Amino acid sequence: MTKNTIAICPGSFDPVTIGHIDIIQRASAMFDKLIVVVADNPAKNCSFSPKERVELIKKSIPHLNNVEVDRYDGLLAEYAAKKNAGAIIKGLRAMSDFEYEFQMALTNKKLNPKVETLFLTTAAENMYLSSSMVKQIAGMGGDISSFVPAAIHQDIVERLLKNK
Ligand code: PNS
Repeated sequence: MTKNTIAICPGSFDPVTIGHIDIIQRASAMFDKLIVVVADNPAKNCSFSPKERVELIKKSIPHLNNVEVDRYDGLLAEYAAKKNAGAIIKGLRAMSDFEYEFQMALTNKKLNPKVETLFLTTAAENMYLSSSMVKQIAGMGGDISSFVPAAIHQDIVERLLKNK
């Protein structure tokens, strides 16, 4: 890792949850600048467009002055190099996340040896939380207010109901 204090926090964020926000907030305290990168991969069937996902994240973190939100449709390792970022931050929930994350970390290291992947452990109360769970609950009319930031709760509910 080069000695700089720029990190990137990538993900699908479809949509962003309080679990993601917890990781973003903690990572923002560790680096001068944190760039949250929404993966703009058309092959992945996301419910929210990249633009919507970026807006939902921005609306959730007005208090984090050193965090930028961006989207990217290429390789993360290339994006890190372009932004001169020394670290990729990922949240780890259960062991079930580990194998996939480990594979991505090793691949990104191979593609860009200057970038280190750092894992932050998810807060215990968010261990079970995932975007797909949030979408499933909201789609069936359930209460997602404790899973997503209050500032975007209504946006997500309305958007998912419109989808039906
Ligand atoms: O929230 P997710 O879906 O687990 O995030 C996965 C993500 C976006 C981090 C991963 O798919 C990614 O890095 N995509 C960018 C394309 C890329 O660099 N692929 C090779 C990674 S090994």
